[in-house]
Amino acid sequence: MKRKKVSIIGAGNVGASLAQLLVMDGISDVVLYDVAPGVPQGKALDIGEGCPLWGSSVYIRGTNVIEETAGSDIIVITAGLARKPGMSRDDLLQANASIIGVVAEEAAAHSPMAVTIMVTNPMDVMAHLAWKSSKFPPERVLGMGGVLDSARLRSFIAWQLNVSPKDVDAMVLGGHGDQMVPVRSLISVKGVGIDSMLPAAKIEAIIERTRNGGAEIVSLLKTGSAYYAPAASICEMVKAVLFDEKRLMPCAAYLDGQYGAKGVYAGVPVVLGKGGVEKILEVPLTSEEKAAFDRSVEAVGRLVGTLGV
Ligand code: 2OP
Repeated sequence: MKRKKVSIIGAGNVGASLAQLLVMDGISDVVLYDVAPGVPQGKALDIGEGCPLWGSSVYIRGTNVIEETAGSDIIVITAGLARKPGMSRDDLLQANASIIGVVAEEAAAHSPMAVTIMVTNPMDVMAHLAWKSSKFPPERVLGMGGVLDSARLRSFIAWQLNVSPKDVDAMVLGGHGDQMVPVRSLISVKGVGIDSMLPAAKIEAIIERTRNGGAEIVSLLKTGSAYYAPAASICEMVKAVLFDEKRLMPCAAYLDGQYGAKGVYAGVPVVLGKGGVEKILEVPLTSEEKAAFDRSVEAVGRLVGTLGV
């Protein structure tokens, strides 16, 4: 069987943490690319030297040469700036767009059959830009955000109830921004609806904390944003694609009429398999949740309009 290859564009904290997860678990060969001389090489060498200890047989290489990403099954784009305290994800728009437009096009040219996972913020807009720049079909360009936001929500619920986070289900939909939509009606513990387990005010407070989950970490770190849970979220998505798992996950996908939105990327439940976004599921939302979803998608659409892509 041909070895699987994942290229990570951007060797910052998210990119390197993802590389470590993929290599530790022997999921695929990894190419870690960055423009900074020495950085991807050094991090890849360090991770590679852990292989005998993790019992892993995959190979990792760091490079400043985009051609070395050629023939990848998956391209993960984490390049660009992270926010600092006081910034919203949207404040990164112009700076990151100038980077993403170029790298998405170059990486796609060398791996024409890859699935591209966008991580750079503002993520939904960058996914849109990568889709346009890569000229890939939209189902092969998707964004990470919903998996992370949902993991945060699941963790907060689990900590509150003192149950295992793996038994908590939740989905955060809409854009991965301040107007994201943690869908209250979809929160459950092993199928038991959250409304019967926690008082309404507690649930609302957890939903609010989820919306601010990224900013909460930025304000603590002061020098950058989250990377451990983001990397774990991407890793789940990578596995779903590489192993054709058909996992149901909230990811930013191109909407062509689903949920009443057209021509825009936003977080929706998708079936993730080897073809990328194989299906978009339209789950029932309350009228309040649907209105919040619409507002969130409009906010993404406005930013896409600002970029003119
Ligand atoms: C977050 O939510 C960085 O957007 C990312 O932490």
